[in-house]
Amino acid sequence: MKLKSHLIFTLYTIYGILLKVMASKGKVRGISGQYPLVQNVTVTEGGIANLTCRVEFNDNTSLQWSNPAQQTLFFGDKKALRDNRIELVRATSSELTISISDVTLSDEGMYTCSLFTMPVRTAKAYLTVLGVPEKPEIDGLTKPAMEGDHITLTCITQGSKPAADLRWFRNEKEVKGAKEVNASGKTFTVRSSLQLQVDRNDDGVAYTCRVDHVALTQAPQQATEVLEVHYAPRVEITHSLEVPQEGQYLKLECVSKGNPSPDPVMWTKDGSELPDLDRMIVEGRELTFTSLNKTDNGTYRCEASNHLGTSSAQYVLYVYDPNALGQHGTDHALIGGVVAVVVFVTLCLIIVLGRYLARHKGTYLTNEAKGADDAPDADTAIINAEGNHAHAEEKKEYFI
Ligand SMILES: *[C@@H]1O[C@H](CO)[C@@H](O)[C@H](O)[C@H]1NC(C)=O
Ligand SMILES: *[C@@H]1O[C@H](CO)[C@@H](O)[C@H](O)[C@H]1NC(C)=O
Ligand SMILES: *[C@@H]1O[C@H](CO)[C@@H](O)[C@H](O)[C@H]1NC(C)=O
Ligand SMILES: *[C@@H]1O[C@H](CO)[C@@H](O)[C@H](O)[C@H]1NC(C)=O
Ligand SMILES: *[C@@H]1O[C@H](CO)[C@@H](O)[C@H](O)[C@H]1NC(C)=O
Ligand SMILES: *[C@@H]1O[C@H](CO)[C@@H](O)[C@H](O)[C@H]1NC(C)=O
Repeated sequence: MKLKSHLIFTLYTIYGILLKVMASKGKVRGISGQYPLVQNVTVTEGGIANLTCRVEFNDNTSLQWSNPAQQTLFFGDKKALRDNRIELVRATSSELTISISDVTLSDEGMYTCSLFTMPVRTAKAYLTVLGVPEKPEIDGLTKPAMEGDHITLTCITQGSKPAADLRWFRNEKEVKGAKEVNASGKTFTVRSSLQLQVDRNDDGVAYTCRVDHVALTQAPQQATEVLEVHYAPRVEITHSLEVPQEGQYLKLECVSKGNPSPDPVMWTKDGSELPDLDRMIVEGRELTFTSLNKTDNGTYRCEASNHLGTSSAQYVLYVYDPNALGQHGTDHALIGGVVAVVVFVTLCLIIVLGRYLARHKGTYLTNEAKGADDAPDADTAIINAEGNHAHAEEKKEYFI
């Protein structure tokens, strides 16, 4: 008797340990471990939410789903609440799955699955509904803006939950905006502003505001505005020749940029109208000389204007004489060459002269004597000789 009760006690203990081990492995929950299992669900507004409640080992005990307001939705396979959006997906002894379609933000909350054991066991699943941000809108654009204007672009998107992120891009390149988030009901209004001082480089630039949000799985929502900036013209003259020479063809182009596009450009020469010459052709913003002439010398000016202002540029034309230019061009080389030659010749002369003097001292004397021979008397001979000598020195100086 004592032994028997001992044995039973031992068996119970072993059974209890076994149960615990198996239960911890999730294989057997036993009668006492019979309870509902659920999972939280996240769904995007307008989508379908499936709420599943499972009981792994169930006798035919009933399952029930109820909403956050504690209203019963389904009791087993029986619909309890009149709402077309709520449907039965599966009802077995071990599972009760229902679906809610066209989910709205007000569907969010804690749903309860109850298993009608004694006592009742429950499990709670939180249904999270994501608010889809609306297509963003960009405000604050003045079209057109004037160069130098300060403008503030504002991008707003409503209806996001959780709050969306807004990002700005200037022609694809991200720029930093100032974000502000306000709650309005269950969703958020997100605003991001961008302060700009526009200049001519902003003309035609696209500013994009992009919404990033967890509910936007395919493509992010975005809005784009293209800036239009008005600015006074800026003028510049380009020329086809660096060194214009007589007889050459020369094209001057008046490059003017402005918005609105400047009126046709005006050309003047030295402050007055262009001379009426066949060689000079004005076509749009181009001034062409078919054959340059020295008489074309002067200051050429072109002017462009729109309603915001006028701008001009000038070009001083100096027509070179091709012949003079040829000399001019070789002048430096020539001078260099001449100097080199002169130095070289002088050096050679000094050397040759030195040798000659060293070798022909006698000849010199003879030469001196020659002067003496020609002279009628000694005095004249000396003068002649000195004169000859002076003459030689003159020559030498001349060479240097
Ligand atoms: C909900 O369950 C139905 C039926 O099992 C299935 O077709 C559908 O894809 C499920 N929807 C979601 C959002 O899981
Ligand atoms: C559950 O009910 C079905 C019929 O309604 C029956 O055939 C089955 O034996 C029952 N199962 C249990 C474990 O009670
Ligand atoms: C389900 O959601 C609720 C409420 O947000 C949270 O407290 C709980 O931890 C979540 N459970 C799981 C399993 O994520
Ligand atoms: C957010 O709230 C502040 C203060 O109530 C308000 O000044 C601001 O305009 C709001 N912003 C948005 C984006 O609604
Ligand atoms: C330049 O113009 C003058 C006067 O118009 C003319 O006599 C002369 O032949 C021209 N020179 C050239 C190179 O065309
Ligand atoms: C043109 O300019 C050059 C340089 O100033 C000068 O040598 C030439 O005489 C000028 N011709 C006329 C017609 O002014």
